[in-house]
Amino acid sequence: MGKVYYVSQNVGLGLLVLAVSALATIIALSIAYDKEKAKNQGKPGDGAADSTSMPTPSTTQFTPKEPWDYYRLPGSLVPVSYDVTLWPRLEPNKDGLYIFTGNSSVVFRCVEETDLIIIHSNKLNLTTFNGHHAKLSGLGEATAPTIKKSWLVVKTEYLVVQLSNRLAVGATYVLHTEFLGELADNLEGFYRSEYVEDGVKKVVATSQMQATYARKTFPCFDEPAMKALFNIIIIHNQGTVALSNGREIETVDSVIEGVPVKVTTFEPTERMSTYLLAFIVSDFVSIQSNQNNNLLIRIWARKKAIDDRQGEYALNVTGPILQFYERYYNAAYPLSKSDQVALPDFNAGAMENWGLVTYRETALLYDPVLSSTGNKERVTSVISHELAHMWFGNLVTLKWWNDLWLNEGFASYVEYLGADYAEPTWNMKDQIVLYDMQKVFAVDALASSHPLSRKEDEVNEPAQISEMFNTISYSKGAVVLRMLSEFITEPVFARGLSAYLNTFAFGNTVYTDLWDHLQQAVENTPEIFIPDSVHNIMNRWTLQMGFPVVTIDTRTGRITQKHFLLDPDSVVDRPSQFNYTWFVPIKWMKSGMEQQQYWLLQKTDTNSLMRVSGDGWVLANTNVSGYFRVNYDPDNWNRLLSLLSTNHQALSVVNRAQIIDDAFNLARAKIINTTLALRTTKYLSKERDYIPWESALRNLDYYILMFDRTEVYGALQAYLKKQIQPLFEHFKTITANWTKIPQGHTDQYNQINAIGIACSMGVKGCRELIKSWYRQWMENPVHNPILANLKSTVYCSAIAFGGVEEWDFAWTMFQNATLASEASRLRSAMACTKVPWLLNRYLEYTLDPTKIRKQDATSTVQYIARNVVGMPLAWNFVRARWSYIFQQYGKGSFSFSNLISGITRRFSTEFELQELKKFKEDNVHVGFGSATLALEQSIEKTTANIKWVTENKASVLKWFTEEST
Ligand SMILES: *[C@@H]1O[C@H](CO)[C@@H](O)[C@H](O)[C@H]1NC(C)=O
Ligand SMILES: *[C@@H]1O[C@H](CO)[C@@H](O)[C@H](O)[C@H]1NC(C)=O
Ligand SMILES: *[C@@H]1O[C@H](CO)[C@@H](O)[C@H](O)[C@H]1NC(C)=O
Ligand SMILES: *[C@@H]1O[C@H](CO)[C@@H](O)[C@H](O)[C@H]1NC(C)=O
Ligand SMILES: [Zn+2]
Repeated sequence: MGKVYYVSQNVGLGLLVLAVSALATIIALSIAYDKEKAKNQGKPGDGAADSTSMPTPSTTQFTPKEPWDYYRLPGSLVPVSYDVTLWPRLEPNKDGLYIFTGNSSVVFRCVEETDLIIIHSNKLNLTTFNGHHAKLSGLGEATAPTIKKSWLVVKTEYLVVQLSNRLAVGATYVLHTEFLGELADNLEGFYRSEYVEDGVKKVVATSQMQATYARKTFPCFDEPAMKALFNIIIIHNQGTVALSNGREIETVDSVIEGVPVKVTTFEPTERMSTYLLAFIVSDFVSIQSNQNNNLLIRIWARKKAIDDRQGEYALNVTGPILQFYERYYNAAYPLSKSDQVALPDFNAGAMENWGLVTYRETALLYDPVLSSTGNKERVTSVISHELAHMWFGNLVTLKWWNDLWLNEGFASYVEYLGADYAEPTWNMKDQIVLYDMQKVFAVDALASSHPLSRKEDEVNEPAQISEMFNTISYSKGAVVLRMLSEFITEPVFARGLSAYLNTFAFGNTVYTDLWDHLQQAVENTPEIFIPDSVHNIMNRWTLQMGFPVVTIDTRTGRITQKHFLLDPDSVVDRPSQFNYTWFVPIKWMKSGMEQQQYWLLQKTDTNSLMRVSGDGWVLANTNVSGYFRVNYDPDNWNRLLSLLSTNHQALSVVNRAQIIDDAFNLARAKIINTTLALRTTKYLSKERDYIPWESALRNLDYYILMFDRTEVYGALQAYLKKQIQPLFEHFKTITANWTKIPQGHTDQYNQINAIGIACSMGVKGCRELIKSWYRQWMENPVHNPILANLKSTVYCSAIAFGGVEEWDFAWTMFQNATLASEASRLRSAMACTKVPWLLNRYLEYTLDPTKIRKQDATSTVQYIARNVVGMPLAWNFVRARWSYIFQQYGKGSFSFSNLISGITRRFSTEFELQELKKFKEDNVHVGFGSATLALEQSIEKTTANIKWVTENKASVLKWFTEEST
């Protein structure tokens, strides 16, 4: 599945206004992920959204005895093809239930003698024939044994058919079933999605099979290695269109059970896995192109969205992205068409169903007027991610879910390559450093992290499978594959990849199959040197958790590596066969000159060439191609800092960002001084690029949270004001006094940062500017003059520095908003006010579903808590109404667990710690539900914050004071 950026990842915006920055994104991501989980009981939330919880295999006491007690299929039967007919009803039946009916005949071959047919089936009401749930017949010479009995196993989600005799090895049989299922709105299997257009409720039947929901649609061998051909027929209402993986070959009118319907037949699919099937019935319309060698490419969406040309951008980039992959993989697009559909109500970001990719509207639709640059980038990245899977994942599929990291990590890496091809001016390839590397560094630096790779037998139950969809799989997978591609070079990587895809087309693999082909490609390229095999090098990155910090002493050339832990006192109790040492490929430069790649293969090398004298400097991890952090001796740090202040462009944008991120994290881990970390931000007054600024702001966010209620904040604000002022002026100039949009893609993001921070730090002219834009809008509400990119920042700042009038206007606009993203911008911005009674009133609104929808209630409380004025109000609000809130939202509701962590994020005093503990005691009888773990973590984090503040407050205050004048 695609990664989800529920909040545009580029909301530089209110960052510091709200003192949130990266945290805001993380909060939002976890909210979204939890929402998925809550709604779908652990449905793979399309990814990387899970940034805090680590998968832990659930343990079961139950000991399997019978073949149907095991979660894995016995493997004695192998499917060949299916004929499936489905008929979803888009109106409720007389009991008010939405249903679908259907039948399926699966042709399977017996490969091991057995008198049992075990096939997945879940939540389907199966029609009985002579008391049995299925009919069996033989194909060709084979005669089918009679069915002795059949039954359903709820726990392991099977239909079991016991036969009177054994099936013959090599013989082929047909199992026929007829069934009825609920077309529920739970986003699993074949489900329904509802939306309102022009005041009319519309119903769409759509599907999400990954990972284990195909079995809820028809009985099937529902494992990724059980590939088969599918012949699909969909019966659907007049006035609707049916889509599936294959191209539709015929649609005829018919009358079935007295109902006039259309019957659409699809071309047979290629050999494929069940989790990639898709079925959609809707009244959507499409736009199409045939540019790629007559390949039919279509974008489907609500008629209104298509009429507003919101699908045009997606159509524009799809052709080029497919061309890119055809060349990169050296393999033609494997299907006869490519459909992409925007669903109004689809919780995962996107799903790579083969030939019929499904998206949230925000991941596929782009409105040239109303959408922001961030929205556009998201569309490009998500399309690029999903289309990468059409080969890697769909054509060649990992045998089992334990290798999910390779599928998702791979797509998460090459999505940057595909997007870069489609939008070459965006510098997409740099962004992986912010959005994957720095993100996963934060998670993988905890003692509670886990290795990328899992053993096959550790992943069995559906819940364990969904645990595989996490940040480690997506983002660490992406950055270690990128590192591999860099050290064997991209052409060699692509050659190995192509051999792998062509060898295993329409089949299944394990991750070492890819290593084999890459190794072969390396061996066929004499000019490439690697110090050990691809297997042995990569094992150190995939089989042990974490990553190293490499320390370079440039006076002596001594280099050491050590497992990097954010909390130096944390205890690692997970053993590693490699003792937490890695084979580290280090690209480096000496005083601006690229050097030959160096490999650190032991814990320590006392005699490397990374030595300098005089004014020389060493920079390791050029272009941040390696997944590790770097520390230096103090002299080299000083030389790098002085290089930044005199000639920062001598280093790449991503290296500038990484120096900052490494320094702040090394300081958190107590490896270097906090003041050294702060010094990496001094050169920012000259920095104009987005990635280093964003990296700094994300790191400074913690300082703001810890200090925005103390005297440190005044000095911090003065310092940041001084640093941001030139950036603000820069954008004022290049936008001709804020009348133009900056040309550069990331410049547009950085403009958002510049305005948001300048306003909250009090840069002269900023607030007046914002207010005047907002006032113009208030005077003429039908014409919003604020540029789409700047809306979130401007709304938030205008409300923060305004009063009741500004707030009430936003409220009115919120209630009238027809575009979901506009409503959510306003909902978040209304939490920015500094007026306590407005914040309290807003808190009360969250309990009234006619004002704030129930699903948005807890996230709104969190927005309020981000605001330094709102935080204590939100804390009181939640404490006072805990039992009510718990009763309303506590039972697995989405952002519930983030409520506590969101509110307590600033907690850093003994008094707050006591309050938190008291809250826990006082409400034992009520309970904390899904927030139980979050509450424990909050207590732990508050304790850590108290410690950090105690240790750092004086020196931080001193530093900001000295540097702000
Ligand atoms: C399936 O059958 C059960 C038991 O007869 C019934 O309660 C349930 O409502 C049926 N499901 C549907 C979707 O009709
Ligand atoms: C799509 O491409 C066409 C032709 O190049 C161009 O005119 C149009 O502006 C593009 N649409 C979008 C939304 O980028
Ligand atoms: C790990 O450490 C143990 C004990 O110090 C040692 O015996 C073993 O060889 C080490 N293994 C590796 C791979 O370095
Ligand atoms: C940190 O700073 C203190 C005082 O400024 C200094 O004494 C100490 O040596 C520094 N430590 C490191 C590791 O640089
Ligand atoms: Zn994916």
